[in-house]
Amino acid sequence: MFNKKKKIVIAIDGFSSCGKSTFAKAIAARLGYIFIDTGAMYRSVTLYALEHGAIQNGIVDEDALVALLDDITITFRFNPMRGASDIYVNGDLVEGKIRTIEISNLVSPVSSIGKVREKLVAMQQQMGASRGVVMDGRDIGTVVFPDAELKIFMTADPKVRAERRYAELTAKGDKVSFDEILENVVSRDHADMNRAISPLRQAEDAIVLDNSHMTVEQQMEWFDNQYRRVIDNL
Ligand code: DC
Repeated sequence: MFNKKKKIVIAIDGFSSCGKSTFAKAIAARLGYIFIDTGAMYRSVTLYALEHGAIQNGIVDEDALVALLDDITITFRFNPMRGASDIYVNGDLVEGKIRTIEISNLVSPVSSIGKVREKLVAMQQQMGASRGVVMDGRDIGTVVFPDAELKIFMTADPKVRAERRYAELTAKGDKVSFDEILENVVSRDHADMNRAISPLRQAEDAIVLDNSHMTVEQQMEWFDNQYRRVIDNL
């Protein structure tokens, strides 16, 4: 259907719980691209810091965390059952452990540490060096791949986002309240947009996708048009 010979970088940035990963995963499957969930990388560093004493009573000890960074090796391995890659830290599968509300509540301060971002951004740039990647995060189109051929900025109403995350967590059996989730969504929006280093912002050349009232199929149809426009002009 598409000219798949020209491989590009597709950067998907936006607010938390917008369905960025679902969207990015579907695009990667369609194009035969590698999908990289950069939020999972920040979550994995947070988990490691928590398990190794650099976060105590909800407080991140920045120096202790930075001292641990060289001990952390993050890898992705494709899981055919999920149709996406699972994330491993030092060989341990952490996919299930990084999506809890505890990690969601701790990840913002961890992702605002310069040395953490330096390490993860370098890894992300390496992963996308041959292009043919769909990468989702907060700073992909602005910092990681400012030269990405297609940049999408995703947004949705905070209540709709909280409802989606609530449904996802309760389906897994997590005991969470809707208000707690909404509070996490709103406070992470604030933290992501206001941190000093690489804050979440829309790249000038990004196109906005507000999916508050769109099905996944409608989003894919929208994507196909955007992709075709970019690829035809290369
Ligand atoms: O996409 P997510 O909700 O799994 O991301 C978790 C956190 O990681 C998010 O609150 C902000 C941070 N993050 C970031 O700072 N930069 C990225 N490229 C991706 C995520």
